Amino acid sequence: PACTQEEVNKVMDAAKVAQKAWARTPLWKRAELLHKAAAILKEHKTPIAECLVKEIAKPAKDAVSEVVRSGDLVSYTAEEGVRILGEGKLLVSDSFPGNERNKYCLSSKVPLGVVLAIPPFNYPVNLAVSKIGPALIAGNSLVLKPPTQGAVAALHMVHCFHLAGFPKGLISCVTGKGSEIGDFLTMHPGVNCISFTGGDTGIAISKKAGMVPLQMELGGKDACIVLEDADLDLVAANIVKGGFSYSGQRCTAVKVVLIMEAVADTVVEKVNAKLAKLKVGPPEDDSDITPVVTESSANFIEGLVMDAKEKGATFCQEYRREGNLIWPLLLDHVRPDMRIAWEEPFGPVLPVIRINSVEEGIHHCNASNFGLQGCVFTRDINKAIMISDAMESGTVQINSAPARGPDHFPFQGLKDSGIGSQGITNSINMMTKVKSTVINLP
Ligand code: G3H
Repeated sequence: PACTQEEVNKVMDAAKVAQKAWARTPLWKRAELLHKAAAILKEHKTPIAECLVKEIAKPAKDAVSEVVRSGDLVSYTAEEGVRILGEGKLLVSDSFPGNERNKYCLSSKVPLGVVLAIPPFNYPVNLAVSKIGPALIAGNSLVLKPPTQGAVAALHMVHCFHLAGFPKGLISCVTGKGSEIGDFLTMHPGVNCISFTGGDTGIAISKKAGMVPLQMELGGKDACIVLEDADLDLVAANIVKGGFSYSGQRCTAVKVVLIMEAVADTVVEKVNAKLAKLKVGPPEDDSDITPVVTESSANFIEGLVMDAKEKGATFCQEYRREGNLIWPLLLDHVRPDMRIAWEEPFGPVLPVIRINSVEEGIHHCNASNFGLQGCVFTRDINKAIMISDAMESGTVQINSAPARGPDHFPFQGLKDSGIGSQGITNSINMMTKVKSTVINLP
């Protein structure tokens, strides 16, 4: 359903009431319910994955993995939560100049209230539970605004939480158009925290939101820097996996290859050989490359490809598109004056920029307005660490393509790629605040 603003108000009221009781529910009981929800989610992996296949054209195998990964994430969150939140601190006053030992400060972590979670279309289940789990274990209630494509999968996922026995009103899913209820939700006075994953909308939200903690995972232009001494088979395998899985529709996809001229021909040839083997078609057939999410997305990708063509990029494959289905395409000899050198296609097209020095690669990477992840391929660990230090990215992977997981690792973007840090532990901490009680002795 397309929820109205009145319905959003009702959900917010219910979330506020439910949260008060939930915050008083023992931590071990909260964890127990999360474990139950995780098990139910995994039991229902097949129908939920079918929704993902139909709604967002995720390849069947990847869709099942997303649901299983989500169940694991919820269980891990429950375990991590009891440890983090089960600890408090005791501070004594006489360590600060001028104080006697007559004040004892007891501090612990308390919930924020109502958390608003907005996941993107590419992980409607996994990037929802990565917000739901931490919010709930920490004693918050949660309102989920799922993406339009992916809303049915999200509703089924939320149903699993309801089946586990979470109290009424504690977790609600508000479906509808962003244009109608988006601002209303993000600017709602009942919201105490916003966790958003998506594109530019996150920048607009951060400007409009009130004085509440924000966690934003936005776009990326993840660079893959390849040095001459790299294992070139490993490089090619990671470029294909990193750049083309789920048809490049991942914020952590490899989005530009910056490769030393001396090894460029060899790697391009190896990548092309692998691309030729990818299965292109409908997600039900477990194809590797499936239609991108919308026609406007396909048009945008095509715009980047045509711009590169006009400006002289080398097409390693013939550009082919049928509706929203775009065949994988590697663009060699891309130059910085081409849009694709900087913009995020979110599709199965990947630019290769040939470089003559490591500095040139780092310079290109750091000139981007994004800074999510990056990767470097070399057998020289000292060089790898130096390059990682120099890259302005939230994470740098050495000898592997960028990836968010394992889901307890910190995950963060610099610049326009986001604010705050995610990962299970960081999200639990972010969705709490410190509360102190000071005992004053006479
Ligand atoms: O699309 C954004 C996701 O956070 C990427 O997650 O690296 O597990 O595909 P992933």
